[in-house]
Amino acid sequence: MSENTIDLPITEPRIEEYLTRLMHRDDPLLDEMERYAKEVGFPIVGPLVGRLLWVLARLKRARLIVELGSGYGYSAYWFAQALEPDGHIVLTDRKAENLERARRTFHEAGMEGLAEFRQGEALEIAKDYKDIDILFIDADKTQYPEAVRMFKDALVPGGLVVADNSLWHGRVASGDTTPDTRAVLAFNEMMMEDPAFFSTIVPVRDGVLVAYKL
Ligand SMILES: C[S@@+](CC[C@H](N)C(=O)[O-])C[C@H]1O[C@@H](n2cnc3c(N)ncnc32)[C@H](O)[C@@H]1O
Repeated sequence: MSENTIDLPITEPRIEEYLTRLMHRDDPLLDEMERYAKEVGFPIVGPLVGRLLWVLARLKRARLIVELGSGYGYSAYWFAQALEPDGHIVLTDRKAENLERARRTFHEAGMEGLAEFRQGEALEIAKDYKDIDILFIDADKTQYPEAVRMFKDALVPGGLVVADNSLWHGRVASGDTTPDTRAVLAFNEMMMEDPAFFSTIVPVRDGVLVAYKL
């Protein structure tokens, strides 16, 4: 973060706390993943966005979900719970240790068979897939626009692009000009203007862009 970077609140903290309390659930693996994120300061999507991912995947009746930037599998865990019975999810990450952790969690949940764990550059790996129902983008912010340009054709008609951090700590509206903020601004504009998509941004946590491929 540069010293000129100005963050803006997206959700009133009391509303965020209320929503989090309201959406309490009983899942020790999610609890452990959230505890670990706090301990090491890892940027997972969190439970409010997790529920949104579940709902989108179930509404979409998703059979193939490709994640760009899976970390240790928190967002993928939510998606995986909502897949169609014959569906699967592809997790990608640069770091082998993240994917190892994801694999252990999926194994404990009895979901290992639903997932592919692929280490390397997310954009390179994703080239191997077509007929994608949901492309989830949560890796380098500067790669967001390129990711959609590259994989638009691999999405099924009616498929979704779901991108985390689309309000980027509020910096999209604070006049911030750092490269990540500029990339997120360009991405949001591109998605709103692209006639191939109908897009919206859900201002939950750090903002989630959801785009329907027409
Ligand atoms: C915000 S975290 C992902 C969090 C995850 N989606 C979740 O909510 O549980 C971003 C992850 O993307 C990975 N990453 C960033 N750029 C990448 C790239 N170009 N290719 C592969 N992985 C990348 C990082 O190693 C990091 O683990």
